[in-house]
Amino acid sequence: MKSKKILIAPSILSADFSCLEREVKSVEKAGADWIHVDVMDGHFVPNITIGPAVVKSLRKRTSLPLDVHLMISDPWFFLDDFINAGSYLITVHSEVCTLALMRKIKAKLSASKVRLGISINPGTPIKILYKMLDLADLILLMSVEPGFGGQSFMPIVIPKVRALRKIFSKDIEVDGGITDITAPLVIESGANVLVSGSYLFKAKNKTVAIGKLKNG
Ligand code: DX5
Ligand code: ZN
Repeated sequence: MKSKKILIAPSILSADFSCLEREVKSVEKAGADWIHVDVMDGHFVPNITIGPAVVKSLRKRTSLPLDVHLMISDPWFFLDDFINAGSYLITVHSEVCTLALMRKIKAKLSASKVRLGISINPGTPIKILYKMLDLADLILLMSVEPGFGGQSFMPIVIPKVRALRKIFSKDIEVDGGITDITAPLVIESGANVLVSGSYLFKAKNKTVAIGKLKNG
């Protein structure tokens, strides 16, 4: 298979929320491809972050696609709000969706030309995805337990990326603990979208850091 372009999606979870526009502009200028927005409800994960209002505000401040990662127990309840806020791609967790619900979500997103991402936690086997693969525009494999930035990369994701790449030709995104050390491992396994929070937002030179993530 022809290798895919590597896309970098900085996670604003590690940005300074008091100056989000400046933070987003800084990664945009440094060569980011998407902006990754981590939405947490304090129920699916033990943390609370941001909601559709922030996505809506960000939409006016950046031209980059907004990659919205819903770590919430009831994605259907909030779906319209995140669509209307201007999401480019909305990722929901397979752990909270039956196949019937995933089909309903896909139909609603397609009607608004929003892409569907499906995510699994580190402990969830990829076989749970088989029956829903045809619905997904992107699969997001978590390489940390969702909930917090700055955790260590879990190598268990590598064989999962490799196995998934054999049967899935669209975007494979890896999220959690991505640095200049772990990025080459996931790229070599077949991932093409890399989320990076703490590594990028802590970097002195974000252009150099993004370059390192893309090129190993
Ligand atoms: C974790 C989030 C990640 C996280 C990544 O629940 O989904 O997007 O912010 O942050 P780092 O790159 O610091 O692991
Ligand atoms: Zn995320």
